[in-house]
Amino acid sequence: MTAPLTLLGIESSCDDTAAAVLRDDGGPQILSSIVSGQTDLHAAFGGVVPEIAARAHAERLDLVVAQALEQAETALDKIDAIAVTAGPGLIGGVLSGVMAAKGLAFALNKPLIGVNHLAGHALTPRLTDALAYPYLMLLVSGGHCQFLRVDGHDAFTRLGGTIDDAPGEAFDKVARILGLPQPGGPAVEAEAARGDPTRFALPRPLLDRPGADLSFSGLKTAVLRSRDAVVAEKSGLTDQDRADLCAGFQAAVRDVLAEKSRRALTGQGDLTGFAVAGGVAANQTLRDALKQVAADAGLPFIAPPMALCTDNAAMIAYAGLEAFRDGHRDGMDLAARPRWPLDRTSPALIGSGKKGAKA
Ligand code: KG4
Ligand code: ZN
Repeated sequence: MTAPLTLLGIESSCDDTAAAVLRDDGGPQILSSIVSGQTDLHAAFGGVVPEIAARAHAERLDLVVAQALEQAETALDKIDAIAVTAGPGLIGGVLSGVMAAKGLAFALNKPLIGVNHLAGHALTPRLTDALAYPYLMLLVSGGHCQFLRVDGHDAFTRLGGTIDDAPGEAFDKVARILGLPQPGGPAVEAEAARGDPTRFALPRPLLDRPGADLSFSGLKTAVLRSRDAVVAEKSGLTDQDRADLCAGFQAAVRDVLAEKSRRALTGQGDLTGFAVAGGVAANQTLRDALKQVAADAGLPFIAPPMALCTDNAAMIAYAGLEAFRDGHRDGMDLAARPRWPLDRTSPALIGSGKKGAKA
């Protein structure tokens, strides 16, 4: 029987300032999870502005930590360890979180654990569903897109990833191209529901190449070209044109994600499940397709609740908990890292998205 533990988690790697209290007493329990989003601050700029994000994190961290403690009905002196996102992400934001966590750890004389943000996402199915290792994880958000084989809290193998945009970025750009509001994902999904996915012949990028790498930049450009062709012909877009373009785009993303998932699952031996996380996993059409892929492979499909699929600090506290139980501790020299690949053996992915490095 392991001793009960209470961890404070802190997350500030992108545009959400978050803190959470996690209790582990025979199983993890989220006592509180506070997320303060910054969408309003960045809305006018069409993307996350790193300087604005860093300042907002620095201003809000104390407050979200206080809220998390209050909601958990606990106090700092009851916290056994502090877990903080130490990368990858926008460096100013990561630094704000790491400095806040160091301050708390030093003042309270409590252990500090630096957590990889992607590990937080990748371990979430263990927090929500107690999923055993090894499993396959697909991270699909506005900043990430990769297949990870997860063998342990510190044992990840990247089986494929995007070579350019993340799918959420593509949804957001397609929304912009078609004059729909941001974030684009929900808007495009709503339009697609009444569209004809077969009207526009859009590409399925990289399906002709072996492996599980993905690409979404060309697909976005194809939507732009199709829109321009319609506009040139009719000097404008009808609601139906817009819906058909959204449906065609979403169907292409679905086909690519499903086929690449099938490939990532192939030859992996005895996996316990196929899990997804990230904002794009909210899309019902994509979710249904991925669920089918899991079923075809005879595996359970795990999609954590949306609040734990998107950025939050409970996942950071949980990843910190596994590392802590394994004896991991960081010192006051813990560094904030803009890039931090989970899989140390695979080459780093090229490019960097609107939400920072893709690791
Ligand atoms: O995980 P997330 O909240 O933030 C990070 O990227 O870290 O993901 C946000 C992304 C946005 O690009 C948004 O457009 C996309 O997830 N998204 C969706 C849907 N809901 C959110 N994409 C497709 N369909 C949706 N229903
Ligand atoms: Zn994230």
